[in-house]
Amino acid sequence: MSNQREQWGSKIGFILAASGSAVGIGNIWKFPHMAGQNGGAAFTLVYLVCILIVGLSIVIGEFVIGRRTQLSPVGAFEKLAPKTGWKWLGFLGVGSAFVILSFYGVVGGWILKYTYISITGGFANLSNNPEAAGNVFNAFIAGTWGPIFWQVIFMAICVWVIIHGVRGGIEKWSKIMMPLIVILLVVLAIRGLTLPNGMEGLAFMFKPKFEDLTASGVLLALGHSFFTLSLGMGTMITYGSYLNRKQNLLNSALWVIFLDTFIAMLAGVAIFSTVFALGADPAEGPGLIFVILPSVFPQLAGGSIWGTLFFFLLFMAALTSAISILEVVTAYFVDQKGWSRLKATLLFGFVITIVGVFCSLSLGGGINITSFLGMSFFDFMDYLSSKYMLPIGGMFIAIFILKKWGVNQFMDELKQGMDKSFLSKQLITVLFWIATTVVGFIILIEVLDVLFGINLIQ
Ligand code: TRP
Repeated sequence: MSNQREQWGSKIGFILAASGSAVGIGNIWKFPHMAGQNGGAAFTLVYLVCILIVGLSIVIGEFVIGRRTQLSPVGAFEKLAPKTGWKWLGFLGVGSAFVILSFYGVVGGWILKYTYISITGGFANLSNNPEAAGNVFNAFIAGTWGPIFWQVIFMAICVWVIIHGVRGGIEKWSKIMMPLIVILLVVLAIRGLTLPNGMEGLAFMFKPKFEDLTASGVLLALGHSFFTLSLGMGTMITYGSYLNRKQNLLNSALWVIFLDTFIAMLAGVAIFSTVFALGADPAEGPGLIFVILPSVFPQLAGGSIWGTLFFFLLFMAALTSAISILEVVTAYFVDQKGWSRLKATLLFGFVITIVGVFCSLSLGGGINITSFLGMSFFDFMDYLSSKYMLPIGGMFIAIFILKKWGVNQFMDELKQGMDKSFLSKQLITVLFWIATTVVGFIILIEVLDVLFGINLIQ
């Protein structure tokens, strides 16, 4: 471990890498629909409040811990709280990385496959026929070798980027891919809005409908603000650990939040203007991306070009998130075990791909894996991470700063690289308490619902 620790090459490089982690499939297939269904602009307003209170404080919290210790999560907690159980919070993060990347890699493979279908004109016969598109998609993901083939390619690209290191891999590619994502989304949004009735998509997402905003909608906004910023597993600790003391962390965190939200909204405009212009169903999740859109794009002039651009940008969004997950695992073996980056990345890229193969096969591809809580292994991994591991991780990061490390120490580090700021010690303390309570509440609601069937919020 005598090597000098790598550092980001530039301020903007770090911001683009961190927002690349945040901007992922969640921004594109979850946020737009969530906003449209739960009150439009009314929901977006609540979401912004959640993200500015809960999201912002934990992003800053993770950046500060990473920069202070110059270590990835396990080492970071060990350094700040030696010989205590806090290092397990770091292990929880590394564990979450395994869990998330195993199914994220599978979806990454689907996206590659759809980029390929679009390039080769394969959407043409799905035109205006979501049923046929649904059959194609279901048959594909339930297959054995097809999805695995594409998943392996996606994971190999991920491994390849991470092997090239922080500056030569993550930063370099984030600086290329993030601007491209924005440009492609702007092009697609203009295409959508200039279609007849394209503006209806805007109304779906942005018209304030306070009557549609329910308690469960508020809860959704909270949970999503957390997931979309990749919080709770030490991704931002790891990325923060490659920073020097000159970077203004508040300013960087605000940029990440802004870019994440802006891109989610832009994706909503691009997708729903097109979907509404052609009278298709404003669905969400995989159904929106892999079923509705393939039946919508071929109806446009130059459809295979629009489809290809869309799936390619989605691929880039998924890749910049996936590499940040793999980096958490690699950094652990490099920092704590003294392994080379090459060895750690190759070995664990491989292990995670194998776990992912089981996720993929659990969707029907040949082996019958017993269901977990009535879900496929794939859905279970998603559920376990987004409902438990990430929120628990995030809550304990806030508790760690409040109760173990101390807000004074935290403020010392935060102030480095910052002239002055509105973030006083008191305000930070209040923000972390709110974050802890709110995230604790979300976990409680889920546990009560699953274990005892008690539904606090309909
Ligand atoms: N933020 C990513 C998205 O919106 C998903 C995600 C959640 C994630 N947790 C993460 C990505 C941790 C990287 C690391 O799709």
